[in-house]
Amino acid sequence: MDARAPSRYGEVYAAWKADPVGFWGDQAAAIDWITPPETIFDPGQGAYGRWFVGGVCNTCFNAVDRHAAARPDQAAIIYDSPVTGTQRRISYAALKEEVATFAAVLQDLGVGKGDRVIVYMPMVPEAAVAMLACARIGAIHSVVFGGFAAKELATRIDDCHPKVIVSASCGIEGSKVIAYKPLLDGAIDLSMAKPEACIILQRPQAEASLVPGRDHDWAGLVAHARAAGRQADCVPVAATDPLYVLYTSGTTGKPKGVVRDNGGHMVALAWSMANLYGMRPGDVFWAASDVGWVVGHSYIVYAPLIAGVTSILYEGKPVGTPDPGAYWRVIAEHGVNALFTAPTAFRAIKKEDPKADHLKRYTLPTFRTLFLAGERADPDTVVWAETILGVPVIDHWWQTETGWCIVGNPVGLGALTVKPGSPTVPMPGYDVRIVDEAGHDLPANTMGSIVVKLPLPPGAFPTLWQQDERFRESYLAQFPGFYSTSDAGFVDDDGYLYIMGRTDDIINVAGHRLSTGGMEEVLSSHPDVAECAVIGMADQLKGEVPCGFVVLKAGVNKRPDEVEKELVALVREKIGPVAAFKLAIAVSRLPKTRSGKILRGTMKKIADGGEWSMPATIDDPAVLAEIAEALKDRR
Ligand code: COA
Ligand code: AMP
Repeated sequence: MDARAPSRYGEVYAAWKADPVGFWGDQAAAIDWITPPETIFDPGQGAYGRWFVGGVCNTCFNAVDRHAAARPDQAAIIYDSPVTGTQRRISYAALKEEVATFAAVLQDLGVGKGDRVIVYMPMVPEAAVAMLACARIGAIHSVVFGGFAAKELATRIDDCHPKVIVSASCGIEGSKVIAYKPLLDGAIDLSMAKPEACIILQRPQAEASLVPGRDHDWAGLVAHARAAGRQADCVPVAATDPLYVLYTSGTTGKPKGVVRDNGGHMVALAWSMANLYGMRPGDVFWAASDVGWVVGHSYIVYAPLIAGVTSILYEGKPVGTPDPGAYWRVIAEHGVNALFTAPTAFRAIKKEDPKADHLKRYTLPTFRTLFLAGERADPDTVVWAETILGVPVIDHWWQTETGWCIVGNPVGLGALTVKPGSPTVPMPGYDVRIVDEAGHDLPANTMGSIVVKLPLPPGAFPTLWQQDERFRESYLAQFPGFYSTSDAGFVDDDGYLYIMGRTDDIINVAGHRLSTGGMEEVLSSHPDVAECAVIGMADQLKGEVPCGFVVLKAGVNKRPDEVEKELVALVREKIGPVAAFKLAIAVSRLPKTRSGKILRGTMKKIADGGEWSMPATIDDPAVLAEIAEALKDRR
């Protein structure tokens, strides 16, 4: 697409708005259906309607088999792992063989349509193989990010009752080898719903001991299936059947199981690959995220493969593996056309190599676009990336719940002018409004809650796993007829959206979504803690980092700094290293309103060193000075 050509965005968005059902009905032609849908949208089903009702399909067929037939030798996945010094190119034909074999392994362990399989794995191609194998046989996968601790994994096991868990002996984080098996064993011990079997991928960096009768060696099972000539066929599923459940932070310690269907998901991802990301079959796409996050589900595994694109699966970091030129090396070596990552990765590179000296070692002739999402893209980072790379830098906003972009800049339709700080405009499918607390539309340039008019488009979640009521309460009840995003922001005079922050207690740490409420639950469980408050504090690298304030119980005869250390260790043990919880501060009291509500917003402003005013409802104004004093020299 010629960057100077006028964008078709206005015309396409208007066509969707005029006839949403016709629009998505046309887009469904990108998918190979076993039985095409009878009804494109049925408003009478589910909480707000269901897409592609009556359609029968298989996601694995669309992601793998049809390309194995049409483009067998093209790379489907390129695994690039600087942490193990290995690379592997898996063609579509080879991927089909691996997935069909592993799907047969799952079937032989009794996994069938509708059964759940937890995938707790590092960034290895076997993680994608396991996901696709589940899709092939109609099983529902639930991938759990490797940086979560045993208790978080146990919560997910108890919520989705997996028949089988697929894991690996270890993950590799920079130079550290993280044994996964003790975490898995710990989680199974803690959980009520024990899996029938575990399949463990043994990695040479740390082999795990297997529990007899329960644990199976991945390589052994696959070799056995191959020797027996076992391969599973694609099982037909309804478009509305779940493909996966992905847990994301809610406002309590109990995560929300976001459900994704098969049909709508495929149609939305296919549309986005061509029109938002500007990718064509044969192109090379790199989402530098993790399969444990929604970005990894949608844009490492499903979307590129559905579109016949080559996907890079990278086991490494932007810096330190081995240097801040790592991203440029991968782009150059594999001919990457577009990179999708979180702004924090670019802040990390900029911090270590502000003049981008490492970039001088590479030429990137194939590179067309950088996409950023997962957290606010600060204008400094956007401008720096654009300057050093000389390609458009496209911010876009979405959530685990939606599975694909809500507001973005559709490069495939012709990019709109970038305004650093704004993810640009709503994608077809999303009627985005800014409203006040009563749900009334607000004028341009006025901050309010960001809501989306129902129905949500294909690809977005129809409900939470076995929690329809929680789904309605959390997302649909506050603004009837609208989906509440829990993000706040405004629209400018040109219709560009600006995301300014969350309206709930979710914080965003290095592009990872975390609940401060969940961390408060952990702090409160410590026997010496009387009460606590966790806030997200601005951080130059990670965007935000958590900071916990605790009031110790009377009579605690330990030094406050001892308890603080214990609390940091406790959050790491209960939630995991990904929480990046490094700062707990003991204070004598917390600032509260006269009705007893903790003034977390004001504490955050003080911690960030920004402007703040004394809340009129504060009980004792002196407490805020104490908080400011406690923060001195601690951040
Ligand atoms: N398994 C086990 N542990 C993990 C893990 C995993 N998959 N992922 C992260 N961790 C650990 C890290 O090792 C770190 O542990 P530590 O406290 O012992 O150092 C901790 O969790 C925090 O990780 P992270 O927030 O990623 O910090 P970092 O300092 O290791 O790296 C960045 C910082 C910016 C380099 C890193 O966050 C990054 O590459 N981000 C890129 C974008 C991204 O992945 N976004 C996600 C959604 S798009
Ligand atoms: P997750 O569900 O982990 O993808 O996190 C979703 C949340 O991350 C959103 O609700 C936003 O708060 C934040 N977020 C994601 N993308 C952006 C973006 N481009 N700009 C600002 N915030 C973002």
